[in-house]
Amino acid sequence: MILVTGGAGFIGANFVLDWLGSRDDSVVNVDKLTYAGNIENLASLKNDARHIFVQADIGDSQAIARLLAEHQPRAVVNFAAESHVDRSIHGPEDFIQTNVVGTFRILEAVRHYWSALPAPEKEAFRFLHVSTDEVYGSLEPQAPAFAEDHNYEPNSPYSASKAASDHLVRAWHHTYGLPVLTTNCSNNYGPYHFPEKLIPLIIVNALAGKPLPIYGDGMQVRDWLYVGDHCSAIRRVLEAGKVGETYNVGGWNEKANLDIVKTVCALLDEMRPRTDGQSYAHQIAFVQDRPGHDRRYAIDARKIERELGWRPAETFESGIRKTVQWYLEHPQWVANVQSGAYRDWLQKQYAPQEGA
Ligand code: NAD
Ligand code: DAU
Repeated sequence: MILVTGGAGFIGANFVLDWLGSRDDSVVNVDKLTYAGNIENLASLKNDARHIFVQADIGDSQAIARLLAEHQPRAVVNFAAESHVDRSIHGPEDFIQTNVVGTFRILEAVRHYWSALPAPEKEAFRFLHVSTDEVYGSLEPQAPAFAEDHNYEPNSPYSASKAASDHLVRAWHHTYGLPVLTTNCSNNYGPYHFPEKLIPLIIVNALAGKPLPIYGDGMQVRDWLYVGDHCSAIRRVLEAGKVGETYNVGGWNEKANLDIVKTVCALLDEMRPRTDGQSYAHQIAFVQDRPGHDRRYAIDARKIERELGWRPAETFESGIRKTVQWYLEHPQWVANVQSGAYRDWLQKQYAPQEGA
C-alpha cells in the first residue's frame, strides 16, 4: 500500500494508472479536487478495489494522520501542489497555502506516523516529494543544464513556493531523519494534461479555430518529458533512490515554445486537417509576455541514469504524436474540463490581448 497525494491531477493520475497497471499493491489517493483535480481521469479504476480515493487537503493534519493510521502505507508520494505559473502570478496565496504550509503539515503528519512504526517498517518507509526544475531559476543560452547541486534561484511565486517545499523536505530529513527522496523534473506533456498549459491549450484552441497564444517572442526554451517517463522515473527513485538524495529528471529535449507550437500544428495538419486546407500555424498569435518569464530550463539527468539506470523511453517525436492522438480521441474529456471556472480563467488571462 502506498499513499499518493494529488493523484487526480495530470501527473498524479498518470502515475496512479501506471502503478495499478503494473503492480499489485494498492493506492490511497488523497486529492483536494481543486480546479486542476479531475476524478474523471481515474474513471477506468471505478471498479478496482486497489484504488481508494479520498477527497482531502494535504494541509488537513487530522485527515492525513487518520489516513496514515488506517492504511499504514509503506511510502507517501507527494504530487499535490498548485502547479500553474500564470495562476501563481494572478493569485499567489493558494500556492503558499498548499505548496508551503500544506507540505509542512503533511511532513509533520508523516513524521509522527513514521516515528511510531516498528523497526523494519520504519527502515523501509519513504516520503517522495515531486518537485520541479523551476526552483533552479533561468539559464543563459550556453550555460550547462541544471545538475542537482545547482543553486536554488526561483523567480515566480510558484517556483518560490516549490523551492520552499523542497527545503522543508530536506530539513525534515536532516533534523528528524525522515527518509525522504526528492525529484526535480522538467516540463511534462501527455494525456490528461489540463488545457491551460501550453501543449494541450494549443491542441484545444487549434481544433476550436481559436488563436494559439505565444508569450513574447516564443523563444523561451523548456526541456520536455513525456509524462509516462516521469512516472517511471518516480517509480525507480522510490524503489532504489538513496535516502536524502535529490534526482533531476528530464528528457534531453530542449525546445523553444514556438517550435513546440509549430510541431503540434504540423501534426494536426496531418491527423485532422483544417477544412479550408490552411495550416493550423495560421492561428499563431503573439501575445504579451508572462511577467518575469524564465528564458531557459534544461535538466542534466545523468545522475538518475548513472545511479539508478533510468532513461526516458519516449523520444519527443513519439511522445508528442501520442499526445496529439490522445486529445483527438478524447473530445468529451476536453469538453468536461472546460467548465465555467476554466472559461473564467481564459477570460482573465487572454482577453486583454488576442482573446483565446
Ligand atoms: P496538477 O495541477 O495537474 O495537479 C495537482 C493536483 O493536486 C490536483 O489534482 C489538485 O486537485 C491537487 N491538489 C492541489 N492542492 C491540494 C491540496 N492542498 N491537497 C490535496 N490535493 C491538492 O499538477 P501536475 O502538473 O500534475 O503536477 C504534479 C506535481 O508535479 C506538482 O507538485 C508539480 O509541482 C510537479 N511538477 C509538474 C511538472 C509539469 O510539467 N506539470 C513538472 C515537474 C514537476
Ligand atoms: O518546468 C516544469 C514546470 O512546467 C512545472 O513545474 C509546472 O508545474 C508546469 O506548469 C510547467 O510550467 P511552465 O510555466 O513551463 O508551463 P506552461 O505550459 O504554463 O508554459 C510552457 C511555456 O509556454 C512557458 O515558457 C510559457 C509558454 N506559454 C504558455 C501558455 C499557457 C505560452 O507561450 N503561451 C501560453 O498560452
